[in-house]
Amino acid sequence: MLYLWLKALHIIALVCWFAGLFYLPRLFVYHAMSDDQISRDRFCTMERKLYRGIMTPSMIATVLLGIGLISLNPGFYFSQGWMHAKLSLVVLLVIYHFMCGAQMKRFARGENQRTHVFYRWFNEAPVLVLLGVVILVVVKPF
Ligand code: HEM
Repeated sequence: MLYLWLKALHIIALVCWFAGLFYLPRLFVYHAMSDDQISRDRFCTMERKLYRGIMTPSMIATVLLGIGLISLNPGFYFSQGWMHAKLSLVVLLVIYHFMCGAQMKRFARGENQRTHVFYRWFNEAPVLVLLGVVILVVVKPF
């Protein structure tokens, strides 16, 4: 029963985290295309609220609930190849999260050097991680 509750909350938290991981780089696309100060200031506020208010708390909840799930049966999970692969992808996702935070701060200082085309490609990375992780945890191919 506890396992199912933890798993439900884990899925809710990761959906909230991914909402931000998909939308924040999209805001960077529009921010990089904007050429007036009022728009830029508004994008800075939207980015900060999304990152600090939604993404970081959801990331922490996802990781803590995931650790809670592993702690129910650590011997089993750490013997599974798919779990090692999944955790490697999660490490990449956490690095991506902090790269988003660093980029947000660069925008806030008015120091962005990158074009909207860069952010369009940057935006695709979490899609690949989502595909990989969901296939690993559901299909458990190895
Ligand atoms: C440190 C971070 C994480 C840890 C320790 C962790 C751990 C776990 C564990 C132990 C389970 C139960 C698996 C099972 O019994 O079959 C689980 C389920 C799941 N995790 Fe994570 N997880 C983490 C992050 C993530 C992330 C970032 C995602 C999404 C990209 C994710 C997606 C899922 C999904 C969809 C399930 C449900 C699988 C199913 O019911 O078949 N997890 N997680």
